[in-house]
Amino acid sequence: MKKKTILTGIRPTGNLHFGHLFGAAQNWLSLQDEYDFYLEIADVQALTDNFSNPQKVYDSVFELASDLLSIGIDPKKVHLFIQSQIPEIAELTVFYSNLVTMARLYRNPTVKSEIAQKKALFGNDGESVTYGFVGYPVSQAADITAFKGELVPVGEDQLPLIEQCREIVRKFNSIYGDVLIEPEAFLSKTPRIKGLDGNEKMGKSLGNAIFLVDDDETIHKKVMSAVTDPQKIKKDDPANPDICMVYYYHKLVNQENLNTVCQECKAGSRGCVQCKKELIQKMSEFLHDFRKKKQYYRDHPEEVLAILEQGTKEAREKAIETTKEVKKVMYIDYFGGEN
Ligand code: TRP
Repeated sequence: MKKKTILTGIRPTGNLHFGHLFGAAQNWLSLQDEYDFYLEIADVQALTDNFSNPQKVYDSVFELASDLLSIGIDPKKVHLFIQSQIPEIAELTVFYSNLVTMARLYRNPTVKSEIAQKKALFGNDGESVTYGFVGYPVSQAADITAFKGELVPVGEDQLPLIEQCREIVRKFNSIYGDVLIEPEAFLSKTPRIKGLDGNEKMGKSLGNAIFLVDDDETIHKKVMSAVTDPQKIKKDDPANPDICMVYYYHKLVNQENLNTVCQECKAGSRGCVQCKKELIQKMSEFLHDFRKKKQYYRDHPEEVLAILEQGTKEAREKAIETTKEVKKVMYIDYFGGEN
């Protein structure tokens, strides 16, 4: 039986953190055997917010790729590729742009909330919102459809973008003919991972992220300042683990001792400092394999580049095929679809 195709993307704006890993990337690892898996490093999309800082995006592509390989993404199973190196995605973006109204883009909840954030940040009336930014859902529709992605593993915040893609596909197919596949979102089972500060979201810009590349000393500093039950003043006060971020992280990396941690915390027989130190130790053990692999790729950057080049080549073949079909039904294949 033919494997179903899945596609997902990640913006290269820095290293992977625990939020990425537990919220999404671990899920990807479990999908790589069963599906024809396209994993896009969305550098063009990252540029919509970072167009004046291209070197940051460039450096992040390599960091992100080697982070992904180090958590166990297997380039023999997954087409790991760089968005900008597939010009067909840009081509499709232009064709799709006629099928979306400006009003619809401005109504997209993800775009809307991102514009609101920008306004809050820059304090203007939206004058600085670019054409490229407002249009990125169109480009994301091209990311997905270029590979005939059937399932798109994403977090909840991305659902409006998948819906927008589905609308574009329906419109395209109804005007030009049935060429594109209408994708479905494949929601991650794990909810969004909270930050150590108790914030609902972990993020680099929020300053509450633990990165997989963090060393022991950095992790120590971060965990020591994590939010615990404010009612617990003395070391032997009983506390409520359910409102403690240290316990929340024990749940992620210390499954085997979870019961003990929970009972001792409730009974007041475990101090927060001891509990944090145990967590730091567990995180360090958890990161052991990752660190070894990451070091390997740091020492062999040419291997990372070769993997990306190969993955991009494979992905491009598929994108070329789709784009040929698209141009044919759009009556723009003058020279037999070779251009
Ligand atoms: N917008 C996604 C994010 O910010 C990244 C992304 C780019 C993506 N292209 C995609 C996700 C295609 C799914 C499908 O997380």
